[in-house]
Amino acid sequence: MTVLDVQGLTVDFSTKGGKHHILKNVALNIGKGEIVGLIGESGSGKSTLAMTILDINSKNREMYGNIRFRGEELSNISKERMRKLRGKHIGFVPQSSMNALNPLIKIEKQFTETIKTHTEMPAQQMFELTSKTLEMVAIDPSRTNSFPYEFSGGQRQRIMIALSMLLSPELIIADEPTTALDATVQSRIIDLLKEVVEQKHTSMLVISHDLHTISRICDRIYIMYGGRIVEVGSTEQIIHHPKHPYTQKLLSSRIPLMAEPVKVKGISGKPPSTLIKHSRCEFLERCDRASVICEAKRPPECIGNVRVACHFGEGHE
Ligand SMILES: Nc1ncnc2c1ncn2[C@@H]1O[C@H](COP(=O)(O)OP(=O)(O)O)[C@@H](O)[C@H]1O
Ligand SMILES: [Mg+2]
Repeated sequence: MTVLDVQGLTVDFSTKGGKHHILKNVALNIGKGEIVGLIGESGSGKSTLAMTILDINSKNREMYGNIRFRGEELSNISKERMRKLRGKHIGFVPQSSMNALNPLIKIEKQFTETIKTHTEMPAQQMFELTSKTLEMVAIDPSRTNSFPYEFSGGQRQRIMIALSMLLSPELIIADEPTTALDATVQSRIIDLLKEVVEQKHTSMLVISHDLHTISRICDRIYIMYGGRIVEVGSTEQIIHHPKHPYTQKLLSSRIPLMAEPVKVKGISGKPPSTLIKHSRCEFLERCDRASVICEAKRPPECIGNVRVACHFGEGHE
């Protein structure tokens, strides 16, 4: 069963400087119980995709396409219906979320407020649900009476994950859940996300700029470049048989865990301008294998059975 089905999603932002084309014909789906990764460098449009699904920060946004959540079309539903879905049926761990807890409100209250928004539950039951959920993320429930600053960054991130799964949503979207944490804490958070999916029987979209960190828990991975999906496949296909030159570069810029400090090999060059509608391959300038055809026309799009948006596609082993 498909929990989330995004088709032809295109997002533009109108600004004084012009219209920015941020998402371009994105197709992405998530099945029941699946953990799907969305990977791309900073600025590629990952958070925009998450926030468009959740209808957050929509002020100067124009969107086209379809977003179906358990069969329900989200692109044109009322704000009120969306508020009901968010938190109860779709949990969200926003980017930089360890700083998203209200610093002036104790943890327990932040949890009970979320419960009260969506359900009517006696106080004792709310307390039990909060304690049980915090226990799942290895936070001592006796500490619910504390303020966010009394916890470390990693603990606050776990509290945010607990908050996102509190009402057992069918889908959790976690945006860069490990960024700004050190390697050991990152690894624990990643394991925790997998446990959450297994124990809560939910589905998950995990967003990251770091393919290596999250790949081990993903069933499938989408690679995003300049607002387009450029490759999609099982984790095994993406990690061991990457087809798109961008995916290959992401893999070779690996920073080995536990190794001696190494110079990080980034991917040289800049992402495409968001103000232009390109009629060529947008990865052209940064690609070692670019050829005449890449300048002449855009590669096929990752829709349906097409797994890689490259003119050389399957030939790029
Ligand atoms: N409201 C907005 N108005 C104009 N541009 C925006 C807006 N929100 C995001 N962007 C632009 O969209 C691009 C993608 O941003 P984002 O989705 O945050 O990328 P990522 O999460 O992959 O780092 C960036 O160039 C960003 O500046
Ligand atoms: Mg982001």
